[in-house]
Amino acid sequence: MLKIKTRILTIEDIAADKDKIEAAAKLLRDGEVVAFPTETVYGLGANALDPEAVKKIFTAKGRPGDNPLIVHIADIGQWSGLAEAIPESAQALARAFWPGPLTIILKKREVVPHEVTAGLDTVAVRMPSHPVARSLIAAARVPIAAPSANFSGRPSPTTARHVLEDLEGRIPLILDGGRADVGVESTVVDMAREVPVLLRPGGITREMLEQVLGRVEVDPGIMSPIREDRPVPSPGMKYKHYAPKAPVTVFRGSEDRIRLAIDREARRQQRWGKKVGILATDDNKDFYTAGIVRSMGSRARPADLAASLFALLREFDELGVDTILAEGVDPHDEGLAVMNRLARAAGFHFIDV
Ligand code: TXA
Ligand code: MG
Repeated sequence: MLKIKTRILTIEDIAADKDKIEAAAKLLRDGEVVAFPTETVYGLGANALDPEAVKKIFTAKGRPGDNPLIVHIADIGQWSGLAEAIPESAQALARAFWPGPLTIILKKREVVPHEVTAGLDTVAVRMPSHPVARSLIAAARVPIAAPSANFSGRPSPTTARHVLEDLEGRIPLILDGGRADVGVESTVVDMAREVPVLLRPGGITREMLEQVLGRVEVDPGIMSPIREDRPVPSPGMKYKHYAPKAPVTVFRGSEDRIRLAIDREARRQQRWGKKVGILATDDNKDFYTAGIVRSMGSRARPADLAASLFALLREFDELGVDTILAEGVDPHDEGLAVMNRLARAAGFHFIDV
């Protein structure tokens, strides 16, 4: 792939000059890709109605062509142009959680190109809340297809620097909007089925969805590997994803057993000359006697754990650790998203203690 110059615009640049957003929006209208901040993670956007532009996303990311993209809108009116029929239950979700970290899947309209949906007859739509994302999409005046702006298989980017690390020389522009608040990708819920199905947990938790919808099924692919004998509900589930370079092991069980087992394993690996990273929580971080310890935050605030997870996985890569030992957390509220991302980073390598 030909190397191109990647420009970065800071939040100050953007705030000082309204034309900057307009210029970025014009790039999008002209069929280019632009990386931009959202409240979840950074996205790599292109005009969702332009198949050639959408193909550039796949090339820049090295993304498999059978993994569909989420379409981002700035105005609720854009939704009905993309999705066939919008049932009352889906509208209730949108009223409750948009703009915000929720993606809703419905039957697609003809205009949505194959390149976006990877040939599926459904389309995933989300209205982000980040002000830079909102003004960019509004200024583009077209819906924007955007996966996370990481190189395929790397942890999703929560800062503009992460995007640059992965995609420098591959994309023309990054809008820097500071650190992404939520830190994990949006919750994905499939509303094209009889019963709503949670396909990817995120900042809008299962508990929050249930308050609006009543019952929500949780796809088994969230916490265990996809079985070969059943159809894949969401193509993204097939891929290992979110992986740092070092192998990850997730320890599950009671907190005191987790920390004992991790400490023992860290000491053992260190004796073999291995550099060990421990992905800990505030509650246990002072307990460890070996390894490089980084805390995701307090177990009492699972949203904090989610917010720091990907940045810490990248930090362990930079430190060049040989292995990462991660504390499992309670799979409730935002903890479900944390466990889902940890499971996938680990290739579902759990140790139950
Ligand atoms: O927070 C987010 O959602 C971020 C920001 C940029 O908005 N975007 C993001 O996109 O995480 P991506 O491409 O990394 O993840 C999209 C996920 C994939 O797992 C994909 O398989 C699934 O959504 N998906 C997209 N369209 C789908 C569809 N029609 N049916 C089932 N799954 C779908
Ligand atoms: Mg992604």
